[in-house]
Amino acid sequence: MDVLMPVPLPPLIRQAMAQHFTLHTLWNQADPDALIEQIAPRIKAIVTGVAILAEDHQYPITSSVMQRFPNLRLIANLGVGYDNIDVSFARQHGIEVTNTPDVLTDETADTAMGLLLNTIREFSKAEAYLRAGHWLQKPYRLSASLRGRTMGIVGLGRIGKAIAKRAEPFGLRIVYHGRHHQTDMPYEYYPSLVDMARAVDILMIVAPGGPQTRHMINAQILQALGADGVLINIARGSLVDEEALIEALTKRTIRAAGLDVYANEPHVPQQLLDLDHVVLLPHIGSGSQPTRDLMCQLVVDNVLAFGKGEAVLTPVRDA
Ligand code: GLV
Repeated sequence: MDVLMPVPLPPLIRQAMAQHFTLHTLWNQADPDALIEQIAPRIKAIVTGVAILAEDHQYPITSSVMQRFPNLRLIANLGVGYDNIDVSFARQHGIEVTNTPDVLTDETADTAMGLLLNTIREFSKAEAYLRAGHWLQKPYRLSASLRGRTMGIVGLGRIGKAIAKRAEPFGLRIVYHGRHHQTDMPYEYYPSLVDMARAVDILMIVAPGGPQTRHMINAQILQALGADGVLINIARGSLVDEEALIEALTKRTIRAAGLDVYANEPHVPQQLLDLDHVVLLPHIGSGSQPTRDLMCQLVVDNVLAFGKGEAVLTPVRDA
């Protein structure tokens, strides 16, 4: 089977693909289009990844990309999110799409909690203060607190639930907004995001990216979150209107933000870098070696299963 890898995925995937299949890579070609012309009819599978997991070589799998490969049947994606792929076009054309759910759920939920605590208790800044020698002059300032807060989770999927499970023993009240009311969940459901934003003082963004959720966190939602509000985004930068967020932070109409994701990664707007009450992580939600290895192995296992004519392990179903 011929497999196309447009972006440089980690060695674990590259090696397995080269060992089991005829692997064609694009990012290191002088003339990728010429190569595609030559091999297009042979390509059965594309193995790709969310931009940040693929060393920042962005290559969205759009309908026009898919149309170039008449025998394409599988797109295996490294990452639980798949906003880099036009999944509905793939579905309409009998192309299976796989992602890497479950194996990264706990790691990403850990990151979310760490980012939340860091944002509210200012651990990064407090450490920088110590390292700069300021503690010798006076103690670090007192921070805001997690105590007594309500967390509104936007997107109560696998990762959202894992965050909720962690947040409960921290004493947080948990509510959620999403496409569906999940009656088996013990948390209050808000069909309206703006109503939820008004009722909470932490907004935890975990919903998928893509056109349907683009800029769902806009000026109105931030206004509703209010002056003591804290925004945490570990999902996709596209969900948040970054300019509205910068304005809300600058005018202090919200208290603080903790971000792991941005509109145009790996570029972070200077206005965010200049702000003191925002914690900025470089999209490391699932970024531990053990978890990334599990994600890579799942990509490999999906392609191997497909190559043997078996059912893939983690097909994308819900788009
Ligand atoms: C990372 O962003 C992922 O979608 O897994």
